[in-house]
Amino acid sequence: MPDAHVESSLYPEAVRERVSNALKRLSRTGALPTLPAVAEAALVIARDPGADVGELCEILEADVGLAARMLRIANSTAPVRRRPICRLADAVLEVGLRKTCDVLLAAGARHLHDATSPLAEPLWNHALATGLASAELARRTGLAEPEAAFLTGLLHDVGRIAYFLTDEVSLEVVDHLAESGEAGRIAAEHDWYGFDHAEAGAILGTEWGLAAEQCDAIRWHHSRANEPGEEALATLLGVADWIAHRMGCGDSSRVPGTPASLGSFGIDEEGLEPLLKQLLVSFARHRLVHA
Ligand SMILES: [Fe+2]
Ligand SMILES: [Fe+2]
Repeated sequence: MPDAHVESSLYPEAVRERVSNALKRLSRTGALPTLPAVAEAALVIARDPGADVGELCEILEADVGLAARMLRIANSTAPVRRRPICRLADAVLEVGLRKTCDVLLAAGARHLHDATSPLAEPLWNHALATGLASAELARRTGLAEPEAAFLTGLLHDVGRIAYFLTDEVSLEVVDHLAESGEAGRIAAEHDWYGFDHAEAGAILGTEWGLAAEQCDAIRWHHSRANEPGEEALATLLGVADWIAHRMGCGDSSRVPGTPASLGSFGIDEEGLEPLLKQLLVSFARHRLVHA
């Protein structure tokens, strides 16, 4: 079997087609998993510099649960206000356009993880923790926009969700192999599917309209975490993934080794503790918002 990482850089279209077709074949519906409509619309607005509050309000008005959530967030950011915010447009202005898009995208990602399998909840915790850690690393280093880094972190393991949505039994077999130490996760996925979750996630990200840099970061989040300077966002994502493990939100019980690139983010063991505390507070708040 050819090395998928080498192949992807040389023949991205061929790999994309092969993985995409395999995922379609695996799925019960014969189609690729889709991003919920609200998140898809938010993604378009987030990337449009001319977007306005009215467009976001239209999306929110169609979803009572999300509208209520936005009002709650807006009122919690300004608790000393004499009168509570009760209009959606005011709520979006209070929270900010990009942050509102983040809320909608996170709600969409949460929806993707809404399943009865016992794997869904830990995968969601891992996604959220990695998203928050990615945004914080981006804020500290200026390597990426925090909002873009948040979304990339949130969706970095969406390839595993794709396995989960298309073929739950295989996912459990691969998970067992990885958890028992019989095989590394990436190797087990290659044996079982012919490609790994990072590749599958990058292809879904492309389908959904994520920026090329975000898709590349997802594609390389395991293979380039230790190569500072190579693919900045991929390295950042790999470190954020490790931080999520240290927050107790790993995607498996096997904690990966400390990434060699950690120092290049200005983090040492001493600086790690306050960072973990800060992220755990933020994680608890976001868990409440997206319960
Ligand atoms: Fe991963
Ligand atoms: Fe991960």
